Amino acid sequence: MNDVKGVVSPAKGAPVEIRTVLVPDPGAGEALVRVQACGVCHTDLHYREGAINDEFPFLLGHEAAGIVEKVGDGVEGLKRGDFVIIAWRAPCGSCRSCRRGCPWYCFDSRNASQKMTLEDGTPLSAALGIGAFAELTLVAAGQCVPVDPAAKPVVAGLIGCGVMAGLGAAMYTGGVQKGDSVAVFGCGGVGDAAILGASLCGAARIIAVDIDARKLEWASEFGATDVVDASKTDAVEAIKELTDGNGANVTVEAVGRPETMMQAFYARDLAGTMVQVGVPDPTMTVELPMLEFFGRGGALKPSWYGDCLPSRDFPMLIDLYLQGRLNLDRFVSESIPLDGVEEAFVKMQRGDVLRSVVVF
Ligand code: APR
Ligand code: ZN
Ligand code: ZN
Repeated sequence: MNDVKGVVSPAKGAPVEIRTVLVPDPGAGEALVRVQACGVCHTDLHYREGAINDEFPFLLGHEAAGIVEKVGDGVEGLKRGDFVIIAWRAPCGSCRSCRRGCPWYCFDSRNASQKMTLEDGTPLSAALGIGAFAELTLVAAGQCVPVDPAAKPVVAGLIGCGVMAGLGAAMYTGGVQKGDSVAVFGCGGVGDAAILGASLCGAARIIAVDIDARKLEWASEFGATDVVDASKTDAVEAIKELTDGNGANVTVEAVGRPETMMQAFYARDLAGTMVQVGVPDPTMTVELPMLEFFGRGGALKPSWYGDCLPSRDFPMLIDLYLQGRLNLDRFVSESIPLDGVEEAFVKMQRGDVLRSVVVF
């Protein structure tokens, strides 16, 4: 058993607390990771607000990189000292989705079997099966993806959630092709990663849409060729104007709101693809004229974690980063200490940061 400091969300809506967390030694199939950096993601805030489930207390943090400290029995392909990014999808290989050849949807993704606890033995629910706002965390060995240790942990960790979700939304779910036109709604960390993904796939025109002028400036640095301020103009009309009156081949909704989903639906060209990567809350609904759905053709596709396969994608993205072909540094707005998470939530809600990253 190891005792470390961790960021715990004790009850719905309550501020997070630094608490002592007891982390068991890894059992069969598990790995203990010494966390070096962990980004602050919206989902952590959603947990704290009780918007994910009621299984308080939570150990927050799930966008992390670190060094493997110990592995349990039967673990192959991972050893003490490996530099890893922790994934919240570790395909099981045997669920119905894995069996039909779609491990990127795995319905039974692996996590540690043992629980981390508070000092009095209260079990902690680890955010997205990770819980990495802690000096050590216990995960399933399959969640650890070794990558080139030349990459800085503060940047590598971001691949573990938001950046991968956005990149994958464009590259995999949207299937952006060379020469395509792409429109991205919402230019936070996820939307900017979608812009970067579209650019990596060779999109000819990448239109960034936001209601915050600062965000549009940042979006240009990630490869947006055009920007649309939806607080001043009709986004759908503006996108049509920029695409010979037709609309974009691929639109990516990275806000998680009905109005932007509808804009993304109508801003497509015929047979275009709309990707939904922004996470809605349970009260949200949209109403679609059926003839518009049918008559426009194409595809409406939700994107879970960018349809990524961590073992394939994390090392590749780190290699591209190390070659200077993927500007991941730009996502890191600030490095903060472990006790800076609550303040980082405030900055996130004000839109002041793309990512605050806890550095240990
Ligand atoms: N039209 C366009 N942009 C909007 C609108 C709108 N009506 N409303 C908000 N936005 C912009 C915000 O200004 C902000 O720049 O959407 C962006 C959202 O970015 P962040 O709040 O930084 O969120 P991010 O981390 O990028 O995540 C986006 O994806 O994974 C999910 O839970 C996550 O739902 C969230 C979404
Ligand atoms: Zn599976
Ligand atoms: Zn996340």
